[in-house]
This record gives sequence, structure tokens and C-alpha cells, in this order.
Amino acid sequence: MTESRGPIMQNDIDALRERVRADLAAANDLRAWDAVRVGVLGKAGALTGLLKALGNATPEERRSRGASLNALKQELTEAIEARRRVLDAEALAARLEAERQDMTLPAAPARAGLIHPISRTIEEIIAIFGAMGFSVGEGFDIESDWYNFGALNIPAHHPARADQDTFYLVDDAVPPRLLRTQTSDVQIHSLLSATPPFRMIAPGRTYRADHDATHSPMFHQCEGIAIGEAVTLAQLKGCLIDFLRAFFDDPALKVRFRASYFPFTEPSMEVDIGWNRRTGEIGQGGDWLEILGSGMVHPRVLANCGVDPRQWQGFAFGMGIERLTMLKHGMADLRPFYESDLRWLRHYGFSALAPAMLHEGL
Ligand code: DAH
Repeated sequence: MTESRGPIMQNDIDALRERVRADLAAANDLRAWDAVRVGVLGKAGALTGLLKALGNATPEERRSRGASLNALKQELTEAIEARRRVLDAEALAARLEAERQDMTLPAAPARAGLIHPISRTIEEIIAIFGAMGFSVGEGFDIESDWYNFGALNIPAHHPARADQDTFYLVDDAVPPRLLRTQTSDVQIHSLLSATPPFRMIAPGRTYRADHDATHSPMFHQCEGIAIGEAVTLAQLKGCLIDFLRAFFDDPALKVRFRASYFPFTEPSMEVDIGWNRRTGEIGQGGDWLEILGSGMVHPRVLANCGVDPRQWQGFAFGMGIERLTMLKHGMADLRPFYESDLRWLRHYGFSALAPAMLHEGL
């Protein structure tokens, strides 16, 4: 009896081993794997059942069959763990593949900011005059009446004041304080503080009580002044012609000087550039477009600042930055400059990486 049961029992052990190995190989995910594990080693598992049945066996049987079953338990436990390691490795590999990052892809473009056209024009003006040896200075947005008008030879009740109606501060300051109507105040500051000879430009904000498609209550100008013992009107003309041709990127740009009047220059000249009224093209056609004001600094302005007009003389000029920008880029309306409309800025704005003209020459 014992002899005859032995091989049969050995058969069921072999059968269980084969079945579990096949089931493990077929278990392709953790859930299937766990079902196999519980089906063998769990409380109601096949192997657990066989081990429990040993309790009813004879001591002889228990010894031989117990050893076989324990060996099988160890073998299957190891096989189950090994399968688990394979499944874990496969799951990790699949996840890595699914989440693969291509490190050679170019970086997503950052949403870079743009340079406002006004700032770009100021940069270009500085670059061009910088190459001609001008330094950059600044005045004050809030000025006394004297810096904005009086010292510039525009006394109270002078008609020139009527053209530059501005905003006065409501305080008791004497002389009254106002928002400067022109950057020409910088002529006075520079004459009072710098030692001649010097040349400088001063871009900045200016204010007038004006508002329409081409005028804004706040706008920008750039002033220039050059003082020396032998500074001439010919130098003023050469300097402005060079500037305008560089700024409009047209070496053949036509420039015309027209006698004019400003209280703080004598003689004074309005500067025009060639223009086609019909197409708006700069430098072409037979029309002229007024672009800036200039002249030789009036001896009275020098004297007002304690600079001896018998020893020193010089030239000055002033230009509107919005106007230069609109002409250069074909913009019809001035108001969008201050509206912060991102669509407009994206259309007309400048990449921060694009160098201003002549910057490399500075
Ligand atoms: N300040 C003048 C204006 O706002 C422009 C100007 C004209 C400035 C002649 C100057 C100059 O320095 O010489 O209209």
C-alpha cells in the first residue's frame, strides 16, 4: 500500500509543480501573479492543502512526503518571487518607455518680452549720437518755470508760451512749477553744471495740454547740445544729416535746413527730410517733412547760465521721439504707444536680442 501510493503521490507533486510553473509563466501582470501565489501558498492554496493533509498520514509517509512537499514549497516560493521580480522589471521598463523624455529636443521657447518702440528709438538715438561722442544726460519731468521757459529766453507773456500750454502744479512755489513742455530744460542744467567744452543728448518725457491722433499729453523728446570755443553751424548741419541718415537707414536721405525761429537759438533752423506725401515713403518724392528744430545757442541763454558768450558758443537741437518712431515704422496713430495693447506691441515691438543700430560701434 505504502509502495503503491508513493509514486502516485510523487505524481501529484510533479503535476502541481508543472501547473504552477505554467500559471506563473502565463501571469503577465501583478494581479494574475497574485492569484497564482494565493492559489498555491494561500490558506486555501493547493500546496497548503497538501501540507495540511500530512496530518492524517502515517509517520513513515509524513517523513518522506513531508520532505518532498517542503522542498516543493521552497522551490515554488522562490519561483513565485522570481516571477514577481520579472514582472516588476517589466512594469518599470514599460513606464520608463512611456514617460521617455527626448533630451535633444529644443527647449520650448520662453515668452520673451519685447522692447517698446519708444525705448528702441531712444536706444538708437543714443547709439548714433554716442558714436559721435555725445554723452547722455537727464533733466526733470517737474521743472520750475525758469528752467522750462525763463532761462531759455522765453519770458512771462512771451507768445512762445502759448504754443506750449502745460500742466502747472498747484502749490505756492515761486517761480511756479510745471511739467516740462520740452527737453530744452536740459540745456540749462548742462550749462550750469558741466564744464565746456561738452556735448550731450538728453532723451526724456515731456508734457503739453494736447490730445489727438498725433498729440498726447505726455510724449518724448530728445534734446542735444554741443558747446565749445569754435562750434559752428556747419557742424550742426553735418551732425544732424549724419544722424538722420543713420536713423532712417538711408545714406542718400535728402535733408533740408529752413530758417525758423526759436527764442533760445539764434539763428534757428527747422530741419526737413525728403518725403513722398502720397505714399508716406521717407527719402523719396518731391515733398518735405518737418522733423526737428535746431540752431546756435542764443548768447542770452549762455549768459543766463554764467557761460561767457564771447568765449563759448554752440548748437542745440530737439526732436520728437514718437514722431521719429511713427515715420520710421509707418505708424499712423500715436495713441497706441501708451495703450499697452499686447497685439500692437507684438506687431511693432522689438526683440530684446536685436541690437540697436550702431550699438556695436559704441
Ligand atoms: N524745444 C523745441 C520744441 O519743443 C525744439 C527745439 C528747437 C529744441 C530748437 C532745440 C532747438 O534745442 O535748438 O519745439
